Amino acid sequence: MNNFELEYSLETLPVIARELLAFCGDARVCLFDAPMGAGKTTLIKELCKTLGSKDAFSSPTFAIVNEYGYPEGKIFHFDLYRLNNPEELLDIGFEEYIHSGNYCFIEWPELAEEYITGNFIKVSIKNLGNIRYLHATNS
Ligand SMILES: Nc1ncnc2c1ncn2[C@@H]1O[C@H](COP(=O)(O)OP(=O)(O)OP(=O)(O)O)[C@@H](O)[C@H]1O
Ligand SMILES: [Mg+2]
Repeated sequence: MNNFELEYSLETLPVIARELLAFCGDARVCLFDAPMGAGKTTLIKELCKTLGSKDAFSSPTFAIVNEYGYPEGKIFHFDLYRLNNPEELLDIGFEEYIHSGNYCFIEWPELAEEYITGNFIKVSIKNLGNIRYLHATNS
């Protein structure tokens, strides 16, 4: 399966998080390409919880990347909304994160796409009011 689509609500979020992780398979890099307020952070938080992370979750508003622990390792959560220039990613060692084998969940990924190679998942979310429409593809 290299395509996955469904509608979900806040109530069905835990189920969707499990299904999305299953869809990811061996892929560890996941891009969340969706408009403002579509639910990227909410979904990533649920993915971290599903992976067993007990860390306090926060949106990386001031930093580009937040790191959380989970029983099998680390999760990196990027929010590239404030990134002006793709080269800033090289300064923070972005390519090392991407190839580290750890989960990398990336909000606002456009400027990073030139640095992302290998297997990755692209998730788009549309806001349909109280329902969200999710579409995931495997590169
Ligand atoms: N499946 C859903 N059903 C209903 N509401 C949702 C759903 N997912 C998220 N929301 C709500 O949408 C709002 C925005 O969510 P969130 O902050 O996750 O969006 P975002 O895409 O990360 O936004 P930003 O672009 O600012 O980073 C929150 O109030 C959240 O509770
Ligand atoms: Mg967000």
